[in-house]
Amino acid sequence: MKRIAVFTSGGDAPGMNACIRAVVRTAVYHGIEVYGIMRGYSGMIKGEFVKLDSASVANTIQKGGTILKSARSQKFLTKEGRQEAFDQLVNHGIDGLVAIGGNGTFTGATIFEQEFGIPTVGAPGTIDNDLYGTDYTIGYDTAVNTALEAIDKIRDTADSHDRCFFVEVMGRDSGYIAIPCAIGGGAEIVMIPETQMSTEAVIANLKTSWERSKTSFLVVIAEGEEEGNVHAVAQQVKAAIPQLDTRVTIIGHIQRGGSPSASDRMLASQIGIAAVEGLMNGMRNVMAGIVDRKLVYTPFADTIHKKKMINQSFMRMVEILSV
Ligand code: F6P
Repeated sequence: MKRIAVFTSGGDAPGMNACIRAVVRTAVYHGIEVYGIMRGYSGMIKGEFVKLDSASVANTIQKGGTILKSARSQKFLTKEGRQEAFDQLVNHGIDGLVAIGGNGTFTGATIFEQEFGIPTVGAPGTIDNDLYGTDYTIGYDTAVNTALEAIDKIRDTADSHDRCFFVEVMGRDSGYIAIPCAIGGGAEIVMIPETQMSTEAVIANLKTSWERSKTSFLVVIAEGEEEGNVHAVAQQVKAAIPQLDTRVTIIGHIQRGGSPSASDRMLASQIGIAAVEGLMNGMRNVMAGIVDRKLVYTPFADTIHKKKMINQSFMRMVEILSV
């Protein structure tokens, strides 16, 4: 392998820069040339390639976002778009790719490999932590801590005013961010897509807490929760328990930004090294991840189709700790 390229795709996540840095420096260490592709698959089609060296990634490990920028490309979903992307890779002499992103990124890479045979190793970069094949994804730890910091502040005002706050955290189709926010934030209830708790159950729980003279309440809701959005849940609760002074907070995209935590920098660096060394050892169509503290390579087919299950004991913890 003489020349590889790295890109970030899908939602950005804190630690992506640390991963890019590790990819670049590992390539340099092994005498491999490395290019960065700007704006994911979209930049691959347009030929937005930049030659990178060790100095290009200096002073980036602590920065949020992605220096390579990110985009979701509609054109890459077409055969014509992928042909243009492949032509660009050939023109630049690229023999392998490191794709930093989530399931959408790996789905694109799988189709691309089937059509054109370009080997790709993935790095799990998403705040959602919803990828099978790694215990944690790059950006998850930072996002949880950002959300928790916001929740701590919300708790202060909830307590001062005896209010019930419904707080929406990110996580498309996944409760991974919501669970530690609920446990660490001392919430009464957590609503996640994986368990689909009904609004009636939420109302019953809050009524019991109200009757026990609790005065402030926190309900954490994952954005992908099926039962309804955070506003709908809050409205139904208010209608059922009019004595509650309810408010809604959507934490939003601040969860995607900021300087990566120590854990995210460590994970991103490990995975970046593993991705390049995986490519050098002939790996293709796999994601590098850490499971039980060990490096593993999981086929994209599994990361895309297998569901990483939420440990149900966490739901029980919320119930016990909010008594
Ligand atoms: O996948 C990361 C994520 O932040 C999800 O939690 C969220 O649903 C989505 O991206 C938001 O995407 P966008 O920034 O495109 O609105």
